[in-house]
Amino acid sequence: MNSLSPFSVATPQPSTASVRGLHVITWGCQMNVYDSERMTDVLRPLGYRAVGTPEAADMIILNTCHIRDRAAEKVFSELGRLRKVKEARAERGEGTVLAVAGCVAQAEGKEILARAPYVDIVLGPQTYHRLPEMVARAARAAGAVIETDFPVEQKFDFLPADRVAPAGGSAFLTIQEGCDKFCSFCVVPYTRGAESSRPAAAVIAEARQLAAAGIAEITLLGQNVNAYHGEGPDGATWGLARLARVLADEVGIQRIRYTTSHPRDMEDDLIAAHRDLPQLMPFLHLPVQSGSDRVLAAMNRGHTADEYRTLVARLRDARPDLALSSDFIVGHPGETDADFADTMRLIGEIGFAQAYSFKYSSRPGTPAAGAGMQVPEDVKDARLQELQAVLRVQQDAFNAATVGQVVPVLFTGRGRKPGQISGKSPWLQAVNVEGPDSLIGRIATVAVGHTYTNSLGGVLTEEADRA
Ligand code: 5AD
Ligand code: SF4
Repeated sequence: MNSLSPFSVATPQPSTASVRGLHVITWGCQMNVYDSERMTDVLRPLGYRAVGTPEAADMIILNTCHIRDRAAEKVFSELGRLRKVKEARAERGEGTVLAVAGCVAQAEGKEILARAPYVDIVLGPQTYHRLPEMVARAARAAGAVIETDFPVEQKFDFLPADRVAPAGGSAFLTIQEGCDKFCSFCVVPYTRGAESSRPAAAVIAEARQLAAAGIAEITLLGQNVNAYHGEGPDGATWGLARLARVLADEVGIQRIRYTTSHPRDMEDDLIAAHRDLPQLMPFLHLPVQSGSDRVLAAMNRGHTADEYRTLVARLRDARPDLALSSDFIVGHPGETDADFADTMRLIGEIGFAQAYSFKYSSRPGTPAAGAGMQVPEDVKDARLQELQAVLRVQQDAFNAATVGQVVPVLFTGRGRKPGQISGKSPWLQAVNVEGPDSLIGRIATVAVGHTYTNSLGGVLTEEADRA
């Protein structure tokens, strides 16, 4: 997702008195952000429009993430809060449909309805296209509605063709879902189901719509995005490289990214696309999880640390300015000090521009959860601290190396300070400058002058020329 990195987004838009309010709370990965947008699209014909607060919403959707620890508790605590909102609205004579979507809904649907009977709809990620029908059923109030199958029909075939492009020039586009890799620690194969890819023509059509709406950057999403193998318009199976070429050369997308990738699916033609396509941004999230061959095998990752090193070398050969990002897990069952030292060595050798790192946490039903040799919590804490300290140094060094460069920035919105606009460098660094709102949604060059903890500052080059 990027990866399934943790962030939380609400989708506020102005409310209109004559329509019904919809408030979607999104947790988890970019795929959930995309799904929330598409659920909003599905509900639009029913008169639902996004509103900024749950209090103003006739329907509230909590789109959940199950990837790491305590996901269910977090959901129940948020539901407790939303229950109060629903009750307060009921006192004013306003009904509220409360829905729980996403991976926690998929995994714990029955438990949700048992513990939170005020929830009206529970829906898994494969059933969003059926939302209008579920809303109608919930309105008929024959009890709560639960839809967590993996239906035979493809949800993408049933989602509306019209997609509202997000503001800011950058959009997500899901091209692949599910995962068959069954890493020892991961719930995704159970919550998102088997791998499936959208037909290339459908992806291209959606990209054309986005381009026509002024979108400059598309991030192709999938739990295993580089395992993409969609049916091509010519009847052949298309891989990600072929799709990216069409998006770049025929659809005219200026910036293409994809996430999350698995090292095992990094085919030769995709590496070649990084050499040939300037539109393919020089930043790749390629999770390695561990640098120890023993742990990688226990995780069922299907590659060794050296294979990862070789892959990175080939990618850098193809695209010398490619920056890498990764996910790491410390304290997988059986991880020894020596294994952890191997991870630290790999990090030192590769040099990551950015990374997400987590303490292993047991997910019920996954193979690692039942494994012996669980690593004590204090050991995990110490390893995580050590690893994050090094990754921080690497990220700072990477950002510092941008100072003095002139980089193209896609401005996606206003900055935090008045008069500032904010955007992304090719390497996915946040960049803030003083500049006009008219640049939002467009690419302009910035002379980078400073680094901050998680962002860069600078001046628009036209202004730099004048100074
Ligand atoms: N414990 C810790 N981290 C996990 N991740 C996935 N499952 C677990 C788990 N059980 C991390 C992996 C993955 C990222 C999205 O979340 O690093 O790449
Ligand atoms: Fe989970 Fe592994 Fe699939 Fe990634 S590749 S979604 S970590 S099972």
